[in-house]
Amino acid sequence: MPKETKAPQFEKLPAHIAIIMDGNGRWATARRLPRMAGHRAGTENLRRIIKACVRFGINYLTIYAFSTENWKRPEDEVQGLMQIMGDVLEKEVPELNEQGVQLRHIGRLEQLDPRTQKKIRKAIDMTRDNKRLILNVAWNYGGRDEIVHAMQKIAAEGIKPDNITQKVVSDHLYTTGIPDPDLVIRTSGEIRVSNFLIWQSAYAEWYFTDTLWPDFGEDSLKKAIEDFSARNRRYGGRKPAEENEKYAG
Ligand code: IPE
Ligand code: IPE
Ligand code: MG
Repeated sequence: MPKETKAPQFEKLPAHIAIIMDGNGRWATARRLPRMAGHRAGTENLRRIIKACVRFGINYLTIYAFSTENWKRPEDEVQGLMQIMGDVLEKEVPELNEQGVQLRHIGRLEQLDPRTQKKIRKAIDMTRDNKRLILNVAWNYGGRDEIVHAMQKIAAEGIKPDNITQKVVSDHLYTTGIPDPDLVIRTSGEIRVSNFLIWQSAYAEWYFTDTLWPDFGEDSLKKAIEDFSARNRRYGGRKPAEENEKYAG
């Protein structure tokens, strides 16, 4: 077994990283393999990234694995992805549990087939007391769908219009209780949001890379966190005057 090296130290560590894991299909095509081989390689990489997040001390990781729009893909690919999800839940959960990972699901659970729903609920239950890393799996997730779902819940609870605040909306999203993402990463060179965490990422720092998801390993994650560390978040405020001095010429 390779010797465990010391975890890197970062100047600023994002508490919550969210990832749009994109590019599995192109990774497979580049190797003349079927798309499913790309999805399997992507799943293998996810194991590496979860381990790295635990090692780096990240508190929350949200991964976009199947969107509400991914149902538009050919039936065999959708079924293949559902199969992979089922296998991961069966085989990987004990190891995740050992690593102290708490599994959560965001998205429309009730639209999945009952067997998958049962497996997801079981995994959530098994890992519920873990504290090291909270892993949100976005499966059948869409940001707009999440907001509609939240509005429906708010209306059903009879909350009066004047009492609907940003906090009330946040508390009715699937991510309730979880801080907004600090860093959102998208692999594979696509520069778009694709309906991911559209409310929660309002002030996230974005990081785009051409690397395809199956190739985005621990070193790539380290680079993304280093990039994040060097950024100055202002949330609409201002930099201290002395930091602006360099523009004075
Ligand atoms: C991301 O890889 C995984 C899912 C969307 C499920 P893609 O399957 O989108 O890969 P590309 O974008 O076609 O390369
Ligand atoms: C976003 O990737 C969804 C996931 C990674 C699960 P897509 O490949 O579905 O996004 P588009 O279609 O390129 O926007
Ligand atoms: Mg894609």
